[in-house]
Amino acid sequence: MSNRPYDLALLGATGFTGQLTAAYLAEHGPPGLKVLLVGRNLAKLEKVQAGLRNRENFFLAQADVGDPASLIKAISQARVLITTVGPFDQYGEPVVAACVEAGTDYVDITGEPQFVDRMILRYGAAAEAKGVRIVPCCGFDSIPHDLGVYYTVKLLPEGEPLRIEGFVRAKGGVSGGTYQSAVNAMGKAKEVQAVRKERRRAEVPLIGRKVGSLYPKLHYEPRIKAWAVPFPSIDPDVIARSARTLDRYGPDFRYAHYLSVKKASTMATLVGGVGVVFALAQLAPTRRLLLKLKSSGEGPDEATRAAGRFEVRFFAQAGGTSLVTRVHGGEPGYSETAKMLGESALCLAFDRERLPARAGLLTTATAMGDPLIERLQKAGITFERVGA
Ligand SMILES: NC(=O)c1ccc[n+]([C@@H]2O[C@H](COP(=O)([O-])OP(=O)(O)OC[C@H]3O[C@@H](n4cnc5c(N)ncnc54)[C@H](OP(=O)(O)O)[C@@H]3O)[C@@H](O)[C@H]2O)c1
Repeated sequence: MSNRPYDLALLGATGFTGQLTAAYLAEHGPPGLKVLLVGRNLAKLEKVQAGLRNRENFFLAQADVGDPASLIKAISQARVLITTVGPFDQYGEPVVAACVEAGTDYVDITGEPQFVDRMILRYGAAAEAKGVRIVPCCGFDSIPHDLGVYYTVKLLPEGEPLRIEGFVRAKGGVSGGTYQSAVNAMGKAKEVQAVRKERRRAEVPLIGRKVGSLYPKLHYEPRIKAWAVPFPSIDPDVIARSARTLDRYGPDFRYAHYLSVKKASTMATLVGGVGVVFALAQLAPTRRLLLKLKSSGEGPDEATRAAGRFEVRFFAQAGGTSLVTRVHGGEPGYSETAKMLGESALCLAFDRERLPARAGLLTTATAMGDPLIERLQKAGITFERVGA
């Protein structure tokens, strides 16, 4: 791998999040970092390259996810592949397959559970056998939550049953790509459940340890002075996978994930709005109409991103010990996602000797853990203990 000409390859470099990621790497990558920008349209790639600082360290390659030979050719030239091509359920599998075949480590920003579960079932064993690290969910889904829990667990006593509740607050916008992926996922709710069950059935049973849920319920939460809305994102699944792999999560680990909403009226609008979109996404004609409302390539402008922020607060209990931690940063969906994704790729490429000796379909906690938290802290995403 050290003979490869590029440190990183970035597939989806012409998209909204891909461009932000390229800009992040150009601004914050180590001196001499070599990045291959990959996409299906060379003219668009040239435009992205022209706008980058240190553009002499960015190179171009044409590849289409529908053309596996073009993917393998590009991916084999880099040590780590970053992809922002979504919906991942639609476009992601050939990219994972190509990385396993080429022996290239992989990071993405999916938040689509059925995609991750399917990749675990189809490529987990092959990736592990080949020593390849495939790490999905390296954006706002699920870094603050997965690494936030990992950070919290390490502050708690060892060998005790652990109970952790996470409360997420976020302000920002939504891109066309995210909107398309969310509508797509809502339209496949039954499939999501079926693939999740299949993945769970295939898991090796834990011996002497348990990992489960605290079964979150809608309630007013005085500790955060806000409504706590159960949040069925991919994050609890990712956290449970980390907990199953890492013995440090103790003999009996349980977690609940909530969105925190200050006003009852906002909560009602949110729950009602998601309910309507979910209902419309179930039928093909109304789903098609929904998909026309926001196009690929567009996303929140600079002012919206500058005003965005997020905070995840964790309340943890272990035996007689209780603890409050938080992870916070700027606009979550795009600015901080580009940072989290870029730092994850840099961590896999440059921190190899500090990473756990682990391969396969991994989480950010099981693949990287502390070295990635250190990178994110330096890059301005804070992990801290805030109370007992
Ligand atoms: N989990 C998170 O926290 C998080 C945050 C942000 C985004 N996301 C996810 O990231 C994904 C991308 O979002 P976005 O807003 O950046 O999307 P976007 O602007 O629509 O970008 C999509 C990218 O995919 C490329 N693409 C599409 N089809 C392709 C193909 N056949 N071969 C090669 N490249 C192809 C597009 O290339 P062209 O320019 O040639 O069309 C473009 O570069 C979505 O799934 C979204 O949900 C997740």
